[in-house]
Amino acid sequence: MTLSRRKFISLIGGGTIVAASGAAAGFAATRTPNDALAPWSAASGYADPRKWAVSHAILAPNAHNRQPWLVDLNTPDQVIIWRDVDRDLPETDPYHRQLVISLGCFLEQMRIAAAEAGYDVTFDYYPDGEDGPAAIAHFANGGTKDPLFAAIPNRRSCKEPFTDQLLSNAQIATLQDFAIIKSDTADVEALKTLTWEAWLTETYYPPTMKESVDLMRLGKAEINANPDGIDMGGTFLESLMLAGLLTRDSLMDPNSTSFKQGEVIYQEMLHATPAYAVLTSKTNTRADQLDAGRQWLRLNLKTTQMGLALHPVSQALQEYPQMAAHYQKAHDLLAKPGETVQMLGRVGYGPQTPQTPRWPLETRLI
Ligand SMILES: Cc1cc2nc3c(=O)[nH]c(=O)nc-3n(C[C@H](O)[C@H](O)[C@H](O)COP(=O)(O)O)c2cc1C
Repeated sequence: MTLSRRKFISLIGGGTIVAASGAAAGFAATRTPNDALAPWSAASGYADPRKWAVSHAILAPNAHNRQPWLVDLNTPDQVIIWRDVDRDLPETDPYHRQLVISLGCFLEQMRIAAAEAGYDVTFDYYPDGEDGPAAIAHFANGGTKDPLFAAIPNRRSCKEPFTDQLLSNAQIATLQDFAIIKSDTADVEALKTLTWEAWLTETYYPPTMKESVDLMRLGKAEINANPDGIDMGGTFLESLMLAGLLTRDSLMDPNSTSFKQGEVIYQEMLHATPAYAVLTSKTNTRADQLDAGRQWLRLNLKTTQMGLALHPVSQALQEYPQMAAHYQKAHDLLAKPGETVQMLGRVGYGPQTPQTPRWPLETRLI
């Protein structure tokens, strides 16, 4: 999460921050959580083609960076992928829809990587039903290289304000092969309002807010110890933590400066959006959810190659009673009757943000 230093200082007064920054000067150069980022450079460093492919798959986007995958390599030529039920999001994702989409992102990134290494991958989804693995991937010699492979190291979910620059008609036409693109002014304005109001609902409902706060990793030591969840690091944020201005308690307290500042940052960010990408499905089976994840991953790699930023905004798609009105509105705006909106994201021009943490491949093996 990136805080706007200017905004924060204007709210809490510059003196405190200057003092905090002074105290932090000694560690300024050393705050990158290198251990947590190591899997990004470890990708490709495996002789077994399945591990080679999985080392790329673990870099896939996934809800709350829970990395809800477990991988069984014990059968030759197969990768068996399970959803790790210890990584659930019971408040914001009670039916695990987003987590299964996340597994779909993993599958497609694995497939693309395997093709690069000369392997064709086919999938059996949920071969033993809901209680079994999410998929069995069968590896065979072959595979057609996918130009999206090159985008894997640079792909991000860009949680930043986008510039005013609109997408060109040619860009929209290209992206329409990957998702529904909403770029008309009226649609964009309606979606800004929806995503903002849904964000407020999630943030002001203590159980869902607490789920996020519990997953925040505050500072380098926490990020390296648990390389998942919502990483909040860097010199500036760690200065605030040192000064006692950014704590788990303050993030849960609507009267605190950090809570209020988070709200200002999100309002600005969610409104700085020139267009949206949407994925829908006619039914809402686990297979549909895996397919939606695979499609989202391809969209995210494509936007990366086009120099565009993509940011999922899932609050209005979450399935708990407090969100029901926004969920309905999202479906009224984005889907035909009976369809499910599987993904909604902002798309536009944004900065290249840092890589996010990952657990090493070895920790995800059964
Ligand atoms: C199903 C799904 C839902 C997501 N929903 C959100 C969201 O509502 N807000 C958000 O900021 N990021 C969302 N993300 C993005 C993840 O937070 C992100 O993928 C994860 O932190 C890893 O970061 P990376 O994609 O930059 O590698 C979502 C990702 C997936 C796959």
